[in-house]
Order: sequence, then structure tokens, then C-alpha cells
Amino acid sequence: MTATPPQVRINRDRLWAALMELKEIGAYDDEATGLRGVRRLALTEADAEARRRCVQWMTEAGLEVRVDRIGNVYATRPGRDRSLPCVLMGSHIDTVATGGAFDGTLGVLGGIEVMRTLNAAGIETLRDVEVGFFTEEEGVRFGTDMLGSAVTAGRIPLDHAHKLTDSDGRTVAEELQRIGFDGPEDERRPIPHAYIECHIEQGPILAEAGVSVGIVKGVQSISWQRLTLRGEAAHAGTTPIGSRHDAGLVAANVVVELRRMCDSGEFGQLRATVGTFDIGAGQTNVIPHHAMLTIDLRNPDDEAMTAAEQHLAGYVDSISAQHGVAVAWERMAKTAMVPFHPAIQDLLAQTAHDLGLGYVRAMSGAGHDAQEIAAICPTAMVFVRGENGGISHTPREYSTPDACADGADVLANAVLRLANQP
Ligand code: GLV
Ligand code: MN
Ligand code: MN
Repeated sequence: MTATPPQVRINRDRLWAALMELKEIGAYDDEATGLRGVRRLALTEADAEARRRCVQWMTEAGLEVRVDRIGNVYATRPGRDRSLPCVLMGSHIDTVATGGAFDGTLGVLGGIEVMRTLNAAGIETLRDVEVGFFTEEEGVRFGTDMLGSAVTAGRIPLDHAHKLTDSDGRTVAEELQRIGFDGPEDERRPIPHAYIECHIEQGPILAEAGVSVGIVKGVQSISWQRLTLRGEAAHAGTTPIGSRHDAGLVAANVVVELRRMCDSGEFGQLRATVGTFDIGAGQTNVIPHHAMLTIDLRNPDDEAMTAAEQHLAGYVDSISAQHGVAVAWERMAKTAMVPFHPAIQDLLAQTAHDLGLGYVRAMSGAGHDAQEIAAICPTAMVFVRGENGGISHTPREYSTPDACADGADVLANAVLRLANQP
């Protein structure tokens, strides 16, 4: 590759200051780590306050802000030819309940920083440039991840998304209204020229390669299911072992079988997680009559994912029949492996090279809004290295100011190139 000098450098201190400011919204003391974490579940008060802060920053940067019917927010920096499709940057600002300061927010605040940088340099672009954030990426509150971007991409109907409920029975539609982010704009937004998302890696690959940025090849398949098991409550001391209908026992077997499936190598690079395991309040001397667990499967290979799901369904049928326990499955989310656009990946790689940044190409282990937006326009992602093995979804999540700034520099210069494409 020959190097073309980069056109802009973002303001590292300003980006870091924004990241540190936003992490105070929804901050909590995490007992397990002794650290300050971020708990900003979608459409809660904390999310609303963070949304308002981002909108304020967007407005201060002179951007035109609009909100759509699923609560996605977009801010536009007009280009010379407004009839051309825009270049879109974005990510999410909701977090899991044990979140850190970087997951999602880097792509949003990095995008706002790109806008500020273009303003400060007095740069005009041919196309509009937009930065946005999508509603309920994490899926922790309403049970479906990448919700706002999936609605925008047309994979999930708006009406279905609006009716999803949290554990207290409150709907997405009610909560959007309550926090004032039930916007008027069509959720099927105008198709962008390209979408680029800058995000922390949330894994160890970049650190192991000794680089601060990565070019993302694609996102692996994700399957989320809720499994409910119904057995029969009975006396712990008097019920013979062979006569029990123990829903807790079946649930425990499922957890162990999932781990065996991962270790066996029979299902490729399968990763399985039971993140919710509920057998109710329970009583010491009563056999559990009810169990509920969520099953998160990830696999970079769609066929191996299908084989894993089929094996799991068969296993659950047989173990529950053996114990006389009834089974109900609920599909929460499912996405196939999504490859990113080769030309956008190459443009990001060339941009990193021109900035003098080493990079690797890697698959994403986590889900991202980019995998949804990839259905409507050429899309790719820039990864930023995480410390501590790239640990994420915990307050231990950390990326250095330099790594964040390197990612935002790649974002800025790639967006500039795309925004000047005729
Ligand atoms: C989103 O963070 C995911 O679950 O991958
Ligand atoms: Mn994320
Ligand atoms: Mn996340």
C-alpha cells in the first residue's frame, strides 16, 4: 500500500473528556469489582439523561437532530450536495446492568468528535455526514438485542418492537413516550451511502497482536432463547428419587450439556452462555417445580449454529421426558453470520495504514448495530483495543485514551473519504 497523508486528526483530550463525562450518567458502585460501573439500561431515566446530553453535544456542534419512531437519534452535518445519500456513523449508549464506559459510547462520542473535528478544520464534504445512536442495542431490558437498528433495517417490524415488554410489563412504546424519545421520523430512514461503527473489541485479539485498532470482517451468528421448564413441587424428604419431576435438575443438566457441546468441538467455535437461571425463591425442603433459563449461543459458522440448536432441542426433549418435565421454548433473537463490505473494510485498512497505525482483521464475537445496518448499505467496523484481555460487560472494561483516539482517527478519515465520493 502507498501512504496518502491523513487529512484530519481528532482532538484526543476532547474525546476522552466526553467519554468520562457520559460514564457518570448511570454510574453505580459495583460490589463485585469494587469499581464504579455504568448501569444505563435502554429507555430508563439514566438512558434518557445520556440521550439528552448527546443531543445537546450534537446541537452545540451545529448538527440537525432528529428522532425516529423507535427512538433512534440521528444528527446531520450538511454536505454540498444534499440530494446524495449520507455517510453514517453510530452505535449505542445503552449499557448492560454491569457496564463500562466504552461499549457503544465510543462509536457515538467518537462520531460526535469527528463532527467537531470537521467543524474546527472548516472542512466541507460533498455528502451529508450523520452520527446516530440506536435504541436498546444490548437487549437486556426488553429481551431483543440490536432492537433499534433491526427496526431501521426492516428485520423487526416497528409494531412488534413497540409491544416488547420489560420484566415489569412496561412496553417499549410506553417507555419511549415517557422519556420523550418517541420521535416523528420514519424508522426506515433514508438509505446511507455507507455506515461505519467504531467500537471497542471486547476481546483479546488486538492486544495479542500488539495493535490499537482492528478492521472487522463480520459478526458471528447469535441465537437467544428462553427455556421454561415445568415439573412438580413435592416433599424433599419423602418423594422417592425415581418419582420426582425436578425442573431445577433438568435446567442444571442443560447448563452442563451446553458447556460439553462447546468443549467437544462438534459445533465449530460454539460459545454458549446461560446468563439467567431462575428456579424461583425456592424452599429448602421442596423439589423445584419451575425453572427458567436464557441460552445465548454464538457461532461464526451458520451451519454449525444450526447443528448446535438442533442438538440442544433434542437433548432438552430427552432429558425433560426422562424426568417428566414440560418444556416451552421462546425465541428471543436470532441473527445469521454477517460479513462486512469488502470495499469498506479495505478503505478502513488503507486509512489505518495512512495514519501509520498497525491493524489486524478480525471477526466480532459480540453483536453490533452494524450487523443490522449492513442489510441496507455498505457497512464495516473499526475495533479499538481493550485492556485486561479486552474484558467487557463489566466495570473492568477499559481502553486507553490513545487507543480510543486511534480508532476515532480512523473513523474520521475514512468518513471523510467516503463523504467526498461522488
Ligand atoms: C451485545 O453486546 C452482545 O450481546 O453481543
Ligand atoms: Mn456494544
Ligand atoms: Mn454490549
